[in-house]
Amino acid sequence: MDIIDPAVSDYVLEHSSPADELLRDLAQETREALPDESGMQVSHDEGGLLTMLARLTGAQRAVEVGVFTGYSSICIARGMAADGHLLACDVSEEFTSIARRYWKRAGLEDRIELRIGPALDTLRALPAEPVLDLAFIDADKTSYPLYYEELVTRLRPGGVLVLDNVLQGGWVLDPATQHASVQAVRQTNDKVASDDRVEAVMLPMRDGVTIARKR
Ligand SMILES: C[S@@+](CC[C@H](N)C(=O)[O-])C[C@H]1O[C@@H](n2cnc3c(N)ncnc32)[C@H](O)[C@@H]1O
Repeated sequence: MDIIDPAVSDYVLEHSSPADELLRDLAQETREALPDESGMQVSHDEGGLLTMLARLTGAQRAVEVGVFTGYSSICIARGMAADGHLLACDVSEEFTSIARRYWKRAGLEDRIELRIGPALDTLRALPAEPVLDLAFIDADKTSYPLYYEELVTRLRPGGVLVLDNVLQGGWVLDPATQHASVQAVRQTNDKVASDDRVEAVMLPMRDGVTIARKR
């Protein structure tokens, strides 16, 4: 389901700063190499939002859960300080081999550290201190409640957590939908909205994006 009228989405894209050649090439290569999965990539307006949030938070330490071919990690890393560090988590060598090439081409390979393995294990192994400036969750939806909890506790005050696909094609609105992904995202959305540790806004951008700022 298109939550936003496609004509509105096109207009939004046309009136946001455009993607550069590298991001356009990455999007095209992803469509050609992985036609069945390419829809997982963030759109350019969402990528622009991630870059802006990384800049606005002065992000030096960030975590991404769900790399795929690297579009969102490039957007985050580009907004970070030159000595910033983005820990990028994914399970797929295949998808992230494309990401690695584009990180190199973008001159960001020193700023991004790829960790292959279940993201929950990676997050749980991180130090417990609240030092993260920015985190982005965009992987398996059934683990969203767990990713949220591991990351929100590690955000510094003023740090920002971004969650993608929070509207699940609109299915979160239908209480009869028992699909595991939808249930997990709905549970996360309810948690975020009532969580005193953060102030949050949910944006009807693409498939829904929540921005939660740690108090
Ligand atoms: C929606 S895609 C990420 C899209 C990416 N943010 C982008 O803009 O291109 C989800 C990714 O999560 C990864 N993934 C799925 N289950 C995972 C898990 N348990 N731990 C880490 N990554 C996982 C998949 O391999 C896939 O690359």
